[in-house]
This record gives sequence, structure tokens and C-alpha cells, in this order.
Amino acid sequence: MAFSFPLPLAVAPFVIVYVLWLVFRNFFIRSAFDNVPGPPSSSWLAGNILKLLDHDAWAYTDDLIQTYGPVAKLHSFLGARWLHVYDPRALHAIFVKDQEKDVFTREPLTTTGANILLGPGLLATAGAVHKKQRRMLQPVFSVAHLRNMTPTFYDITRKLRIAIESRVRGGPQKIDMVSWMGRTALEIIGQSGLGHSFDPLVADTKDEYTEAIKSFIPTAVEIEFMRLVLPFVDYLGPAWFRRWLVTLMPQKSVQRMKHIVDMMYEWSKEIFEAKKALIESGDNAMLHQVGEGRDVMSILLRANMSAAEEDKLEDEELLAQMSTFIMAGMDTTSNAMSRVLHLLAENPDVQDKLRSELVNARETYGEDIPFDDLMALPYLDAICRETLRLHAPVTLTPRVANVDTVLPLMEPVRGVDGTLLSEIAVPKGSILFVNLRAVNTYKAVWGEDALEWKPERWLNPLPRSVEEARIPGIYSHVMTFINGSHSCIGFKFSQLEMKTVLYVLVSSFKFELSDTKIHWNFAGVTYPATSKGSVKPEMWLNVSLAP
Ligand code: HEM
Ligand SMILES: *[C@@H]1O[C@H](CO)[C@@H](O)[C@H](O)[C@H]1NC(C)=O
Ligand SMILES: *[C@@H]1O[C@H](CO)[C@@H](O)[C@H](O)[C@H]1NC(C)=O
Ligand SMILES: *[C@@H]1O[C@H](CO)[C@@H](O)[C@H](O)[C@H]1NC(C)=O
Repeated sequence: MAFSFPLPLAVAPFVIVYVLWLVFRNFFIRSAFDNVPGPPSSSWLAGNILKLLDHDAWAYTDDLIQTYGPVAKLHSFLGARWLHVYDPRALHAIFVKDQEKDVFTREPLTTTGANILLGPGLLATAGAVHKKQRRMLQPVFSVAHLRNMTPTFYDITRKLRIAIESRVRGGPQKIDMVSWMGRTALEIIGQSGLGHSFDPLVADTKDEYTEAIKSFIPTAVEIEFMRLVLPFVDYLGPAWFRRWLVTLMPQKSVQRMKHIVDMMYEWSKEIFEAKKALIESGDNAMLHQVGEGRDVMSILLRANMSAAEEDKLEDEELLAQMSTFIMAGMDTTSNAMSRVLHLLAENPDVQDKLRSELVNARETYGEDIPFDDLMALPYLDAICRETLRLHAPVTLTPRVANVDTVLPLMEPVRGVDGTLLSEIAVPKGSILFVNLRAVNTYKAVWGEDALEWKPERWLNPLPRSVEEARIPGIYSHVMTFINGSHSCIGFKFSQLEMKTVLYVLVSSFKFELSDTKIHWNFAGVTYPATSKGSVKPEMWLNVSLAP
């Protein structure tokens, strides 16, 4: 009577064994990365990965770089082995050579997360959909459009200057500059992205929207644990049901994130509907709005009308781009500008030299230095390049291999078994952590002073080794904005923003360190706080009128 058992009970042991095997198999099978050296695992459950996600991962990543070099094995969750990599030739394979065939793409959990939080925009899509979006969006960030947007950048930066001036007119004041940089960056992306003003940039106004957006990245870090459910999201039913599930979660951070995401979406949608109605009515009123119709959303709406049928963007796709630009463009640029101010406060001689270049330029070109002349100021440019090289705001970026492939190496590494490895076999499904900061500060490429902040580096010819390494960056041999089909679409936009803001601030004010310490937190985007344990973005500098 072999079948007297109910069938489910009979197969249950096999199912259990199979699931256990799926969960724990990494402890029993060999990994292609076993021969790659790396630090020992510190936990069977999480390996060393939590050390990489820590706010103070600097020492851990420095140790990975110094002890193991351009490629190392990492222990991840439940025995999985990942790679930490910054070898220039490997990066060329990851971001450029194999990109067309989508051999390496963003890791699926990251894109699922972006899709939930921001919608189907550039950070959430892949393959043909992503290519279509990129084709439509790329021209919006052209130099010609940026030139048109420059007056908007100046208008906003002038408001910033007036706000700070009103604070320091009576004498030096201690000011939280990262808060002002965040507000400025959001206002710039708001006006030039959506054609909408969120913040009048008057001293001390608190805007609900601005406050919400600014807490996106810190909140995202707090809800990192939600990654554990991401693999199952697609099985949890339709979007409305998942939203309802989220409202049931007790965590404050989860509810805060929901609030931020909803708010961003509602705002974009409201602005979008209004613009669409205007365009459809054929009204010229568009020209008299904020940004005068030169903003990204207006440009896209018009481009969509004349685009070929297969290139047209759906409304949800366009709205997702808006949230994507705000999230991808605000924290990165505001923290990069804060970093420059911090470095200028630490290096008063550099600050003085920069100020004299800026004041001279203002005398030559007038108050609003034209786009091309501003971009060509050599010392300002050197300071931006050097800061973005040494302090890439995005330190680590994960990638997944979609097929079995090999990573070629510029410098062979010594395997655990003593053999020299000039390439590494990477099986399908492998996860790689690319360290952008490490390749930007690689001594074999940049020389012994790679870890020093030296703007002068860019005023002289770069070492031969920099050319020879053929770093696949879209920006001056650095990987800060990566390269290839997922490179930062806003990189020229961020240059213009950094340069207008720094020009206006440094020509008008002097920045000095204050008695409040500055500690840079390691996060998705690096940001300043007042101590190692603090997660709140803050950066207090002593500010006075420029001499
Ligand atoms: C200093 C400022 C900035 C830095 C350091 C930066 C860095 C990056 C990096 C590293 C990536 C690639 C992420 C990855 O694949 O892991 C990226 C992508 C992206 N960035 Fe930026 N970014 C900056 C400013 C901006 C601005 C101002 C905007 C928009 C106005 C923007 C929009 C985007 C978008 C949409 C993507 C996704 C591109 C795609 O996948 O097709 N970024 N950025
Ligand atoms: C683009 O055009 C198509 C077809 O005219 C339209 O259905 C769609 O809503 C438009 N998308 C946007 C974002 O305007
Ligand atoms: C990627 O980097 C290479 C240099 O290695 C450069 O020639 C190329 O233009 C870059 N690609 C893109 C998309 O900018
Ligand atoms: C910053 O300014 C305050 C006065 O506002 C002053 O007491 C303090 O010494 C200054 N700090 C530094 C490090 O110069």
C-alpha cells in the first residue's frame, strides 16, 4: 500500500531537504572565487557584508584595499562569496566592453528597490526599456540645454548668497552648510527639472517637502533590513495590496519612507498634469512659468509629442524620471559641494587662491559669468575634479553577472594556492562590489600621493600611468560617474551646479572650521555628520564675509 500516505506528506521531507539545500548549499559547494584571497568570514549568517554597509566602513574598505588589492573575495549572506573589485581593466569589462550585451547589470534587488521607491525610471529599468528611456533623456542634459538653464542656476544661487549674507553681516556665524547645500540642490533640480520652486531659500523657512526629501537617504539606510523581503516582492500580489501591507508595518522608518515617496510622487504628478494641460491647450503661458518652459519636464513633454511611436514615454515613466532625478541628483551634488567647502575650510591657502580667481573672473565677465567661461576657470575646475576623484560621493556600486564570464585584470593577483591569476572566472549570478573610490585613489595609477587632496595635480600633465590605465570613466579618468549605458546622466548638470554655487559662495564668503567636528558617514551617498555615531546630516562651518 505504497500510496496510503497523502501525497503532500510524502513529498514533504524532500521539499524540506531541498529548501535547506537552497539556503545552506553555499557552505558545501566550492565557489569560483575560492582561490581569490580575501578576509575571513566573521559571521556564518552575514559574512562580512554588514561591515561594508556600516556608517563607518572606511577602515574596513581601506583594509580590503591595502591588504588584498584590486580584487578580493568577500563573504556574504549564508556562505555566498562575492567580489570586491577596482582593477581598471576589470572595470572596463564591467562598465564598457560587455555593457552592450548586458553581461553585467545593476543587481536586481537594487533595481526592485528603486522601482518601488521611485517608479520605472532610469535607476529601475534595464535592457530595451532602459535604452529607450536613455535615448529620450540624454539630449535633455546636453550642453545646449545646460547653457539655457544657467540663468536659473544663478537666480537660485543669488538667493542663497542673500540668505547667508543676512546671517553673517554682523560678524562670523556658525552655519550648518550641508543644510543649505541640500536646500540649494533641491531648488535647482526642482526649478530646472520640474519647472517648480519648492523653497524660496529665505533664511530658516522650513519646508515640509524639502525636509522630507532630505531625509530620503538616511531613511533608506534605516530600512536597509527591508532588502530581505525584496526578493519576494513580485509574489506579494498587486501594487495596491503591497502598499496596504506596508501601512501595517510598525516601523517608524518604513512609514516615514512611504510618506516621502508618496509626497514626491504627488508633487510631480500635480505639476505634470498642469503642464500637460497647458501644452495641450497650445497656450503660450508655459513660457511665463518658473524656468520658462526650459525645465527637463517641459522639454520631455514636447520631445514626446514629436518622438517616433516606439520611443514615446508613458506618463508613469516620465513621473518616475522626476523622482529619479531628484533622488539621484540632490544628495550626490549637495554632499559633493559640502565636501569642497569642508576641504576649503581645512586648506585656507587653496581657498584664498580660488577666491582670487573667482573675483578676477567676476571683474572680467560680470556678475553672472557666462556658462563657457565659468566652466573654463582652471583652478575652480581643478578643485572640483580633485574633490570628486578623492571623495567620490558614491563609494561602492554593486553589479551582477548575467552570464558566465571572465574578468581580465591589469595587475595579476596571487591566488590562495600560490598561482598568479591574470583573470578571474565569474559564473552567472555572481555579485560584484565595485569600489569607485578605490580606483580613483589607486597608487599604481595615480602615484604615491594618490590619497592626498592636491588640486594642482590637474594643472600639470597627469602621470603617464593614468593614460595607460585607460580608466573607463566618462569624467577625466575618474570613475565617480562610472561609464557606459548606466553612467550618470546628470554629470554635466552637477558640474554646472557645483561651479555656480562655489563661485557665488567663495567669492562672497570665507569658510573656516568651527568647534563642531565633521565626520563623513559611509552610506549609499557619503554625507557629513557631527560624530561617528550620528546619522543626522550636519556640517557646521564658521562663515564670515569674504575679506
Ligand atoms: C556630484 C554629483 C553626482 C554624482 C557623484 C553622481 C554619481 C552617479 C553614479 C555613480 C551613478 C551610477 C550608479 C550605479 O550604476 O551604481 C549615477 C547614475 C545616475 N545619476 Fe548621477 N551623480 C551625480 C549627480 C547627478 C545629477 C545632478 C543627476 C540628475 C539631474 C543625476 C542623475 C543620475 C541618474 C538618472 C542616474 C542613472 C542613470 C542610468 O542608469 O541610466 N546624477 N550617478
Ligand atoms: C507621450 O505620447 C503618448 C502618445 O501621444 C501619450 O500617450 C503619452 O501620455 C505621452 N507621454 C507623456 C509623458 O507625455
Ligand atoms: C568610456 O570610457 C572611455 C575611455 O576608456 C571613453 O573613451 C568613452 O567615451 C567612455 N564612454 C562613454 C559612454 O562616455
Ligand atoms: C568660530 O567662530 C566662533 C565665534 O562665532 C569662535 O568663538 C570660534 O573660535 C571659531 N572657531 C574657530 C575654529 O575658528
